[in-house]
Amino acid sequence: MKNKHHDFLTKQPLSQQVTDFLLIRIDRGDYTAHDKLPSVRTLAQQLGVHRLTVFKSYQQLVHNGKIYAKDRSGYYVMPCIQEELKDSNLLHNLASVSDKSYDGTRSIQQLLSPPILAGINFKPPVVSSPLRTNMLSELQAHHVDYQFSKALIDPALLPNAYMSEYVKKVFDLYPKLLGTYSTVQGDEELRVTLAEYFKKRHQFFLLPEDILITSGAQQAIDLIARLMIKPGDTIIMERPTYSGAIDIFRQQGAHIISIPMLPDGYDMDELESIIRNYKPRMMYVTPTFHNPTGYVLPASKRKRLVELAEEYHFLITEDDTTYDMYFEEEPPLPIYGYDTEGVVMYIRSFSKYIAPGLRIAAVLCSPWLMKDLLTLKSLADGGSPLLGQKIFMHYFTSSRMQTHMEKLRIALSLRKEAMERCLAKTNWEWTPPKGGLDLWVQLPEGVSSVELLRRSLALSVSFVPGPFCEPDAVHHSSSIRLSYCYTSERQIEEGMQRLIDAYDSLIHTI
Ligand SMILES: Cc1ncc(COP(=O)(O)O)c(C=O)c1O
Repeated sequence: MKNKHHDFLTKQPLSQQVTDFLLIRIDRGDYTAHDKLPSVRTLAQQLGVHRLTVFKSYQQLVHNGKIYAKDRSGYYVMPCIQEELKDSNLLHNLASVSDKSYDGTRSIQQLLSPPILAGINFKPPVVSSPLRTNMLSELQAHHVDYQFSKALIDPALLPNAYMSEYVKKVFDLYPKLLGTYSTVQGDEELRVTLAEYFKKRHQFFLLPEDILITSGAQQAIDLIARLMIKPGDTIIMERPTYSGAIDIFRQQGAHIISIPMLPDGYDMDELESIIRNYKPRMMYVTPTFHNPTGYVLPASKRKRLVELAEEYHFLITEDDTTYDMYFEEEPPLPIYGYDTEGVVMYIRSFSKYIAPGLRIAAVLCSPWLMKDLLTLKSLADGGSPLLGQKIFMHYFTSSRMQTHMEKLRIALSLRKEAMERCLAKTNWEWTPPKGGLDLWVQLPEGVSSVELLRRSLALSVSFVPGPFCEPDAVHHSSSIRLSYCYTSERQIEEGMQRLIDAYDSLIHTI
């Protein structure tokens, strides 16, 4: 079942995609004449494909004279390749990608042909990386009646009905609001509010200048990836992990090494030996109600992780999107709270449990990182929309907010219990989480989660198959992520019965 998740959502042969990926990087100047390319094993790991696939594309590139092989040493870039890249072969590949992406309206081939035919020294536009897709978005775009693939809170549990009051309040208070931009860093009033909130809640001593408002945590991860990673840089991720982050880091060309996330966090000795061997630039973690397992990294390991980052000089990106989704006691202090040297970049999203449509998240980091992050944010969008920031701020500081959170925690824990009652009828295994939005469920050995997904989609049920959450190609999982937050308890019961039916039909064929 290796790489089934690629087959499932992409159409071009994988080896062709790898070939295009390499050609584009060479053209961009990431590899120049006589540079050594990554080994077959490294590139296969980095891209999440089989080694044979990479081997096949290297052979194809050698055959086409784009690269050359040195005995027992590896593959190297042929001189003058940048000139050769203008040939119609690559243009054809780019054109076919473009045709697919844009419904074939006008291909890159059509756009480029006249100047090339006229002999003008024309540098073709480069589609940066046609290889990667956002797998989760593609899966979630399937319309189904029972949606267990979205870690999004059911709109019926969110304060939508009250939002119009806050919209009106905001327009009354700031009549010219839509006539101006937010600053790049985010609305100052909101940053002051959040600095006070973090101080009161966690004793973080922050200035408003230490906070950047982003359009959701997703944008925060993307900006940090751009800031920290160039192709080939090593990062560590938990295994499994949030698939939206895997897609970003792969797109950025990161070399991903993983550490298993267990119910009590990682084995810190194993982590240290990975760090010593691979010298990562960064580690991306979701330590509180970890996505997808719901596990929590204990306080002692949080502290140790910061010590390791200081000792081995790497950065921690702490993505705390579900910190407030606890069902019993409050989770431990965020890792950021243990950091005195500025080695943690902290992402806290408020999208999920207040108003996903507002797309509000905050990044906290030290001034030397903030400076460059601001440049990237200004390039991305010049600052998140002001209207959303103001509406969020007025709701966030209202008395309704606390009541909303209390009710939401109860509703989510009831849905989790409803899903667990359905799971209790199966021989699947899971560790009950104490918060978060998902259950990470282990199917019996040898059952393919991707095949189960195919069958359950036919019954109008979706979930996230384990391989989507695997950050490297070396490990494979027959687990599935079931989100209980988007559907009602009745829908959970009906949908889970269908999922169990799909499973029964699958095991009869094994
Ligand atoms: C761990 C994690 N990080 C980031 C995100 C994206 O969050 P946002 O909606 O704030 O962009 C999600 C959403 O599911 C998530 O689970």
